[in-house]
Amino acid sequence: MKRLSPFFILLLDFNSCKGDHILSDTHHFNMFIFNNSLYFPKFVKFLLLATSIFGSACVTQVGCLNFSYPAFHRKSGEDLHLSKNSGIYNDAIQITPDTAGDIGLLSNMSGRVFHNEQLKLWDNQRNTKASFNSTFVFNIFPPDSPWGEGLAFLLTSNTSLPDNSDGQWLGIVNATSIGVSNVVAVEFDTRKSYPEDIDDNHVGVDVKSIYSIQQEPLGGHGVNLSSGVDITASVLFDAKSERMTIFVSKSGATEQKLKTPVLSVDLELSKLLPEDVFVGFSASTGEYAQLNAIRSWDFSSWEYIERDPINLTWLWVLIPIFVVGLLSGIAFIYYWKRKHRKDQGLDDDLQLELEIKTSSTAPHKFKLKELISATQNFNSLNKLGKGGFGTVYKGTLKNKDVAVKRISKDSRHGKQDFIAEITTIGNLNHKNLVKLIGWCYERTELLLVYECMPNGSLDKYIFCSGSPAAEDLNLSWERRHSIICGVARALDYLHNGCDKRVLHRDIKASNIMLDSDFNARLGDFGLARTILFSENTHHSTKEIAGTPGYMAPESFHTGRASVETDVYAFGVLILEVACGRKPGRPNVLNNYNNSIIDWVWELHRRESIIEVLDMRLNCTFNKDRAICMLKLGLACCHPNPYERPSMKTALLVLTGEAAPPIIPSEKPAFMWPALVPSLKEELNCRQSESLLTPITELISGR
Ligand SMILES: *[C@@H]1O[C@H](CO)[C@@H](O)[C@H](O)[C@H]1NC(C)=O
Ligand SMILES: *[C@@H]1O[C@H](CO)[C@@H](O)[C@H](O)[C@H]1NC(C)=O
Ligand SMILES: *[C@@H]1O[C@H](CO)[C@@H](O)[C@H](O)[C@H]1NC(C)=O
Ligand SMILES: *[C@@H]1O[C@H](CO)[C@@H](O)[C@H](O)[C@H]1NC(C)=O
Ligand SMILES: *[C@@H]1O[C@H](CO)[C@@H](O)[C@H](O)[C@H]1NC(C)=O
Ligand SMILES: *[C@@H]1O[C@H](CO)[C@@H](O)[C@H](O)[C@H]1NC(C)=O
Ligand SMILES: *[C@@H]1O[C@H](CO)[C@@H](O)[C@H](O)[C@H]1NC(C)=O
Repeated sequence: MKRLSPFFILLLDFNSCKGDHILSDTHHFNMFIFNNSLYFPKFVKFLLLATSIFGSACVTQVGCLNFSYPAFHRKSGEDLHLSKNSGIYNDAIQITPDTAGDIGLLSNMSGRVFHNEQLKLWDNQRNTKASFNSTFVFNIFPPDSPWGEGLAFLLTSNTSLPDNSDGQWLGIVNATSIGVSNVVAVEFDTRKSYPEDIDDNHVGVDVKSIYSIQQEPLGGHGVNLSSGVDITASVLFDAKSERMTIFVSKSGATEQKLKTPVLSVDLELSKLLPEDVFVGFSASTGEYAQLNAIRSWDFSSWEYIERDPINLTWLWVLIPIFVVGLLSGIAFIYYWKRKHRKDQGLDDDLQLELEIKTSSTAPHKFKLKELISATQNFNSLNKLGKGGFGTVYKGTLKNKDVAVKRISKDSRHGKQDFIAEITTIGNLNHKNLVKLIGWCYERTELLLVYECMPNGSLDKYIFCSGSPAAEDLNLSWERRHSIICGVARALDYLHNGCDKRVLHRDIKASNIMLDSDFNARLGDFGLARTILFSENTHHSTKEIAGTPGYMAPESFHTGRASVETDVYAFGVLILEVACGRKPGRPNVLNNYNNSIIDWVWELHRRESIIEVLDMRLNCTFNKDRAICMLKLGLACCHPNPYERPSMKTALLVLTGEAAPPIIPSEKPAFMWPALVPSLKEELNCRQSESLLTPITELISGR
């Protein structure tokens, strides 16, 4: 007994004390033999059951079954499974009854004896098989002549003795279980029961049958099975070659003779038998009787690992795994790199979306696909205009004309300007502002979608004198006035009308768009910045932004945008629109002396300011109102930012609700720092006392 738990050994010891007591009566024991039934106390039966359970735990590994019975005692019965008719007697297993004299009770009997533990014959998962060596000494004693039938060494999954397996069946199968029963047997036949038997003294290998697949007479090997002497047989199975070899010799002179095999048979046991089998013996008597005794039995088994098939199967498993692993690794790295590369863009995207989403009237986010199809893949035929920021295309979205601004990738502040536009005008809603419908940020494309302004920008109407189309593009005084009023309203709204003060910073004729009714719409908020009234303490970065000719002189000193610099640019715009000429020397950045301002002021000094008006107007204007507008223009362009009117005041002057500002006849010299005017009321007109530089600061993410 191997591999028993301490618990179990304890039970066995307990059993042996009690068992000795109960089974010590030899008479009782003999009676049992005569009655052909083996009696065990109940707890021994329990132990037998437990043995087989523990036994099967042991055989989870192939070829771990080893045991040795040098002789058989009553206690050996605990490790054995004996069928009816079988018993242990005289230190031997009597497979068929030993009736000690009464031959009549010996006839037509069969029996089976098995070791309780199973042998694990093969394991497909681990690709292992068991080799074994079953060596036993048996004795066949014919009490009278003739004799029969024989005994067999068995490997079977079913220990139960088949009914009617006596006589020629040797306890291996019966007439109906032949070919069905999972049994492989090595028969030692002492009777020629049917024509297929070679003789009455042979060894054969039977598979699921009583008919041997191969048999060998033993006479030639010096063995007479029924001579009543002890015979040693070894049944060897080599799992590697799947070959069963049988050695038989008379005991005593054995050692030498066991070297030469009697019979060798190729047997694929792993195909013929289930994984777990019992090993044991069967025997039978027929019309003629004999005693079939097993005197000793050594069984050992060992594992054989099928290397080549293992390697092959593992290869078949490993190669696809390796390939799949490799591919997914490559895919992962590729994906990771892509994602990593995209991550920054993605972060920006998120930040962008967050920034944009905080606005209540958030503009729509478009898909790049939609905008590509809207503009026919940014067809140059649809180009509306081009600027430093990028190109504007005309497009059609849901049968509505739109202008799509594609911010050029090399634009220095592309993304910031983009965010600026969305976050400033995305929130704003005013009839004199170009409405931002939506935006798109995909694959480094920055796109803004505006409502379409069919009449384009203001500059093409006022700066075209001399060109052939000049007359067509001429704007009447009324239109010019309403355009200026519109811009003034838009700026007033930006400066004073919304919860956050917005500085446009780039007011110029080309940024004023005209809708179908020639209403002014202020557009291009690429430079626009929001100022929170409460955040005046923030520092601004010094950046000079805007368009030369429209930039207030102080901005070159402060480097800051303010409400006043917007007003200055508005003043220049008034003069442009009234005079129909460009503001000055556009290529000179440090443009302190704006030529259009100097020119108009000079004529103002000569009190002939009316002469500056666009010749194309042909006197179709109200002279007083024209002079008023020109004076307002000059007032807005006052070199001293403190002297400039607020947009609120400017709007009142334009609508005639306030008197035109008083302009000094000489253009005051630019002084820095600027003098704060003594006139208190001028200050009161302003929306806030803190508008002026450097208090009016630029809030910017840069
Ligand atoms: C044998 O068994 C039968 C019933 O199974 C019983 O009546 C008989 O007494 C037994 N014989 C002996 C000797 O115990
Ligand atoms: C059983 O016996 C065989 C042969 O003697 C030996 O190789 C094997 O290791 C033994 N196995 C166990 C589990 O003791
Ligand atoms: C088989 O086992 C017996 C008994 O243990 C031993 O004498 C014999 O040498 C073994 N045969 C082989 C081939 O190992
Ligand atoms: C063994 O065979 C008997 C009779 O043929 C059958 O009743 C029993 O179910 C079988 N047991 C197993 C485990 O196959
Ligand atoms: C063979 O044995 C089985 C099981 O022991 C039994 O059911 C069947 O009836 C037997 N066949 C014959 C012909 O006795
Ligand atoms: C075998 O032994 C038996 C009994 O001793 C004897 O009757 C028989 O003739 C022997 N057979 C051979 C072939 O020697
Ligand atoms: C044994 O079986 C055979 C054949 O079935 C029969 O002729 C004989 O009488 C039986 N013997 C006994 C003692 O039952």
